[in-house]
Amino acid sequence: MATSPKTYHVKSFGCQMNVYDGERMSELMARQGLTEADAASADLVVLNTCHIREKATEKVYSEIGRLRRDDGSRPMIAVAGCVAQAEGEEISRRAKVDVVVGPQAYHNLPDLVAKAASGKRALDTDMPAASKFGALPSRRRVSPSAFLTVQEGCDKFCTYCVVPYTRGAEISRPFAAIVDEAKALVDAGAKEITLLGQNVNAWEDDGRGLDMLIRELDAIDGLARIRYTTSHPNDMRQGLIDAHADVEKLMPYLHLPVQSGSDRILKAMNRSHSRDSYLRILDRVRAARPDIALSGDFIVGFPGETDADFEDTLSLVREVRYAHAFSFKYSPRPGTPAAGMEGEVEAHIADERLQRLQAVIGEGQAAFNADSVGRRCDVLLERKGRRPGQLIGKSPWLQSVHLVTDSAIGDIVTVEIESAGPNSVAGIEQIRTAA
Ligand code: SAH
Ligand code: SF4
Ligand code: F3S
Repeated sequence: MATSPKTYHVKSFGCQMNVYDGERMSELMARQGLTEADAASADLVVLNTCHIREKATEKVYSEIGRLRRDDGSRPMIAVAGCVAQAEGEEISRRAKVDVVVGPQAYHNLPDLVAKAASGKRALDTDMPAASKFGALPSRRRVSPSAFLTVQEGCDKFCTYCVVPYTRGAEISRPFAAIVDEAKALVDAGAKEITLLGQNVNAWEDDGRGLDMLIRELDAIDGLARIRYTTSHPNDMRQGLIDAHADVEKLMPYLHLPVQSGSDRILKAMNRSHSRDSYLRILDRVRAARPDIALSGDFIVGFPGETDADFEDTLSLVREVRYAHAFSFKYSPRPGTPAAGMEGEVEAHIADERLQRLQAVIGEGQAAFNADSVGRRCDVLLERKGRRPGQLIGKSPWLQSVHLVTDSAIGDIVTVEIESAGPNSVAGIEQIRTAA
């Protein structure tokens, strides 16, 4: 690759933090004077990868192949994200790429691109002591619902998970830097901010916990909604639970993964909480905010999982009545303790368990949506729907709400929910009379 790129495209494959990183890389390239283009024509394509399950990792290699153009040329390719961190130089051995940059080093992307353009080796998977955030440009125009990373990394070492290796140790960004970025996001058009962290509720600065940060953000004019994700049960402190009772902008939604309903499996996963301690946390959360929508993550087919263990997961899902949940088939990851564990669950059994679990989760979700029919709530309009005049927004409980309206994307409107489906609800905008 001999010339410097003039146009760029960033494609993100992972979690919300990965999407946030993609936005920041995009802003970096724009500051360098590059303009955004689509993947088929951009001079530089950044593949912002995810390593969480095998399928996610393999995607990057098929994607690299697809970047080849009809005339036989290809763009400059930068592999960023968690696969870059985990596989490093290995990527260049498997495929032709120009830059490899890890999640804690992407502030160096412009230098790496310049190096690659001059034909030099461009790899940076360092985890520097000084965080990348100080070196990033300020936020530009954002969507009504914006992400803000406040905490990164993980010290929990669940036995199946690569994140502690790809993201590094738990670090919290400073209070003032976060408040500044939140204000910049609001100035750039955000009405809702979702605070992100691998263990977001472990965030702390100088004795202040996430609840104090949320209370500070609550005072920002123009910011209407605050959310946070993903939380770990062991970091769910009472102060944060209390914030759900009295911070009006904090939305009634909690994503609190449990992974399994079986204590035996939770122990093998090194989750360091039990089924019961998890359920007791939810009791306290519901006491603070009775209408809270709960969400979780589940893994089926972990090594050694028996039918009885799996039944414990199903019973937990039924007991909690999640508004929403994600479920995954266990994927052995290189370098993790679980990858060496005995008791592999046969693929067809894991498939069947996943299907049964998803059916039970789906029932709960449909019931949650059905229960909201007749409710009045605020909806933040986020995107266009398929039908003319239709917009799609989010309820406080993070349901997708479809409605026909003259209001604009970014507006918050009062809606009465009229009907419910398995994955969304539909509503009618209420005409507000001037007070
Ligand atoms: N920090 C968050 C999210 C981690 S990744 C947490 O602790 O909950 C998101 C989800 O992916 C996890 O909650 C888990 O359910 C799933 N996951 C992680 N590693 C996995 C693996 N090896 N196989 C299948 N699912 C996995
Ligand atoms: Fe992975 Fe567990 Fe850390 Fe979540 S808490 S990122 S599942 S190691
Ligand atoms: Fe994937 Fe890395 Fe997020 S592995 S889930 S992109 S932290």
